[in-house]
Amino acid sequence: MDYSNIDFTLDDAIATITVDRPDRLNALNPQTMQEIEHCIDAIRDDRSIRCVIFTGAGEKAFIAGADITAMVTMSGFEEKTFAYHGNQVLRAFEHLPIPIIAAVNGYALGGGTELALACDLILAADTARFGLPEIKLGIIPGFGGTQRLPRRVGLLRAREMIYTGDMIDAATAYEFGLVNHVYPAAELMGEANALATKIARQAPLGIQQAKAAINGGIEVDLDTGLRFETEAVGLAFSTDDKKEGMTAFLEKREPQFQGK
Ligand code: CAA
Repeated sequence: MDYSNIDFTLDDAIATITVDRPDRLNALNPQTMQEIEHCIDAIRDDRSIRCVIFTGAGEKAFIAGADITAMVTMSGFEEKTFAYHGNQVLRAFEHLPIPIIAAVNGYALGGGTELALACDLILAADTARFGLPEIKLGIIPGFGGTQRLPRRVGLLRAREMIYTGDMIDAATAYEFGLVNHVYPAAELMGEANALATKIARQAPLGIQQAKAAINGGIEVDLDTGLRFETEAVGLAFSTDDKKEGMTAFLEKREPQFQGK
């Protein structure tokens, strides 16, 4: 598939997906969502990729939401299809056996905050703004915002954000536990690459199993979650990388993980 709305680069083991519609503040239209879905499918099949960075083109926006130009004429049923697809794409982020870092370089509104919430880690520029302003358009969040935001920041904070549509700045997002770190805008991509490199050096099957245990266990009771973890740790113990990691520790050297 040729991409016209996203840019995909691969540098060693780190893939970067950039939504590339800066004149529309990287708003997500159906075509962009299809391209993101295709790209995630391709990443899933590429065993050389160990970490993904997701960001937006330009200095102003990460993603300013779903594309209002595309949505203005949508019927309820058409929007339902768009939202269903959006949710499938963001679920694919969560099921991808590779971590995704959102590098939020500006406005992350509506679908932009929702997409970031489906990533494993969120780094923000100090210029970033988060929000779910859908209520101001007479609608409500449609890519999982009513579900993931309360789980992430708590009911009271999420309700206020969703009922008012107000944006929060990066410092507030950090205080809310919505982002991992905040950096000066000029340093954001360097920091995202440094974090991705650190993750890419770890045992990939271990990372895969840790992600599966975290995401599988977060919505279930503790005993069920612990069973997920037990399965995952058993699988991690069956890898060559387990032997390498423990042998390297005992031999006082850095491990060389192969993803096997
Ligand atoms: N969809 C389509 N176009 C958008 C857009 C969006 N979500 N956000 C910005 N744009 C366009 C603007 O219309 C403008 O286009 P023109 O140059 O043709 O006028 C261009 O991008 C630049 O934007 P602004 O001139 O508005 O820039 P600004 O600096 O004055 O304001 C902003 C920036 C505060 C982000 C403002 O653009 C804004 O409020 N955007 C809409 C945010 C929004 O409501 N997002 C939620 C969408 S609904 C959704 O996401 C549903 C869901 O759950 C999936």
